[in-house]
Amino acid sequence: MTAVRSDFAIEQNWQAYSEEEHAIWRLLFERQQRLLVGRACREYLNGLRGLGVAADGIPDFRGLSDILDRSTGWRIVAVPGLVPDDVFFAHLARRRFPSTCFIRRRDQLDYIQEPDVFHDICGHVPLLMNPVFADYLQAYGEGGLKALGLGHLQRLARLYWYTVEFGLIVTEEGLRIYGSGILSSAGESVYCLDDPRPRRLRFDLRRIMRTRYRIDDFQQLYFVIDDFHELFEATRPDFAPIYREVAALPDLEPTGRLDQDRDFAPGSPNGGVAEKNWAAHQRGPSLGRKRLEDVRQDHNR
Ligand code: PHE
Ligand code: FE
Repeated sequence: MTAVRSDFAIEQNWQAYSEEEHAIWRLLFERQQRLLVGRACREYLNGLRGLGVAADGIPDFRGLSDILDRSTGWRIVAVPGLVPDDVFFAHLARRRFPSTCFIRRRDQLDYIQEPDVFHDICGHVPLLMNPVFADYLQAYGEGGLKALGLGHLQRLARLYWYTVEFGLIVTEEGLRIYGSGILSSAGESVYCLDDPRPRRLRFDLRRIMRTRYRIDDFQQLYFVIDDFHELFEATRPDFAPIYREVAALPDLEPTGRLDQDRDFAPGSPNGGVAEKNWAAHQRGPSLGRKRLEDVRQDHNR
């Protein structure tokens, strides 16, 4: 039995993975490799290459941590699954990324409720090779500890959801993915960019803090950033007064609309006439299928 320490860190026990578990990793990995060219942002693809996260099988966290550490000072900490919020934030604040160890079963390739090692390592860790994103996630951890104290965890959790898990980014080649919840999902990595139904809005901190999210289907709403600097700068101010401001306003559903919403229109990054037509397309019926993702039930961080 592995003892659970107060920081919930455990041993990954890499040598205990079975051949079947490595085979499932390879299947997931190869499928995403094919899909993510031209869909994932450059920062993610560079990070993945830099880590050499193997198509070979589930990686040993020690080797991965050493490469990550040399690049941005982050390390991976194996955890048994969900950890309490304060523990999660404290790890991030110290540049330690808590990762689950188990891998989904073969009959769960497209959908699993909790995060598994594929989501945590293949979805999140490559972005931590980017210096600006690495700083953002550490600042998020510090902000999490603060939000806990202030009683505004829910608003900060929405920021995590709409950026770290489901964020989109504009590039000269078009819209790309940086959200890990999307990057580890075959279905959503296509849907979030190609399907006309979800709405895509320009990043807006207060708007995000007010917006609920769904965990059981593809997203109906994504927020688009220009680059990681924008994200870092927009989240730099003290959130205490912003939390108070937002607390006075009603929450919004993902399908809700505000007059000041800035829709992102493909092909016209700064908005324009095309936006109106695009917006009209977006009011299609919602998808009646389960989202093909691996997000934990209360992944509200
Ligand atoms: N600036 C935020 C605060 O004062 C902290 C934070 C940084 C939160 C980055 C999220 C992301 O609470
Ligand atoms: Fe995640």
